[in-house]
Amino acid sequence: MADNRVTFGSKLGVILATVGCAVGLGSVWRFPYMLGTNGGAAFLLVYILFTIFLGLPVMLTEFFVGRHSRSNTVGSFRKLAPGTCWSWIGYNGILAAFLILSYYAVVSGWTLEYVWQTLRGSLYGPGHADYTAGFQTFASDAFRPIFWTAAFVGLTHFVVVSGVDKGIERASKIMMPLLFIILLVMCVRSVTLPDAGEGLRYLFQPDLSKLTSSVVLSALGQAFFTLSLGMGCLITYASYFSKDTDMQATAWQVTVINTFVAVLAGIMIFPAVFSFGITPSAGAELVFITLPNVFEQLPLSFLWSLIFYILLAMAALTSTISLHEVVTAYALEEFHMTRRKAAWIVSVSVFLLGTVSSLSFGPLKEFTIGGLTFFEALDYLTAKIMLPLSGMMTCIFVGTHIDRAVLKAELTNEGSVRFRLFAIYVFFMKYVAPVAIGIVFLNELGLLAWLIG
Ligand code: PHE
Repeated sequence: MADNRVTFGSKLGVILATVGCAVGLGSVWRFPYMLGTNGGAAFLLVYILFTIFLGLPVMLTEFFVGRHSRSNTVGSFRKLAPGTCWSWIGYNGILAAFLILSYYAVVSGWTLEYVWQTLRGSLYGPGHADYTAGFQTFASDAFRPIFWTAAFVGLTHFVVVSGVDKGIERASKIMMPLLFIILLVMCVRSVTLPDAGEGLRYLFQPDLSKLTSSVVLSALGQAFFTLSLGMGCLITYASYFSKDTDMQATAWQVTVINTFVAVLAGIMIFPAVFSFGITPSAGAELVFITLPNVFEQLPLSFLWSLIFYILLAMAALTSTISLHEVVTAYALEEFHMTRRKAAWIVSVSVFLLGTVSSLSFGPLKEFTIGGLTFFEALDYLTAKIMLPLSGMMTCIFVGTHIDRAVLKAELTNEGSVRFRLFAIYVFFMKYVAPVAIGIVFLNELGLLAWLIG
């Protein structure tokens, strides 16, 4: 059965679909939100270090697991180590993908509301509310955000049901380059605002005294979240790669493009934040309350705003598709359901859980878990705990169970592409990544100080 798996149609299709999976709200919405709540440039620095030294090796390792086993996240570990507990990494990943999708769909829904408000003409022009108040009125409404969450889950459902090759590739191919261009335009507008320098300093001039254990953990979580690591997403995608997909090049390209988009998003947001007197640590709404101020400063604000939110929604869609696909692929292969049935079950449950996250911006605001709202708690649990944990275990698994020659053969397409840094990669995958992630966890729990002290 595994040999009949569909594969991506073309080389460009592979890169675009994988970039589509990685680039999304994680870079444009979550990155500025995290950077703002974690003290600025110091966060950026640690995030970039984690991306290069942990993200890349973990990504290659997931590519290996996916293509080598050619099956879904749970099936892959089962195939590579039959009868062991390693498939729990897969279950953890699928649960993480499911939980992330539930709150990611809420934020994706917000982008649709902004498309709608732009179209109706209620976002800009005389008499519009201040953008912060406007967002809060919307987000605290019991019905509207849930309606948009439902719409977004519906869109995702539609693409997932229409099949891997057609749906995903077609969606990614058109929109990604356009989003990139519009981000550039927004950056130019933002850095030419009055007092933009302060925002750029906030973004790029690290104050190392801000480096607390929670900043480091947040940066680790962001690196994993934004690269779609640790939840089986890339394992599932890699299982659709063809035998001659150059996985090393794909990993580099995805990482570089994704990081570039995040930095552009930072350049677009922070000068504007300071210029308009917004609090950088505003939280999940930061991007949504900042951007309309920038659009207002552009000629034809209506048009820019419309195109931007549509593209952002599309970028989110390529990510929700892949999150959905992880869970659906698992359900349909493990329980032998039809794709349609599996997708329905996933969509309905995601929507139900999503409503709770959505309500936690309004009616359920006071309901907190350890000081975090339901939305924040889910985000914390998945990005900062489940994803790095999965990544760590995947590295330990491959490091201890896979023969080096097998690993090298898969990552070099049986020797047809070179892998000069193979030894370094193995060192990072086997030792550096698990140890570093372990240290970050211990540190956050306060155990490191206790152990050393
Ligand atoms: N990486 C995506 C983003 O940055 C989010 C995502 C995570 C998508 C995990 C798929 C899997 O938006």
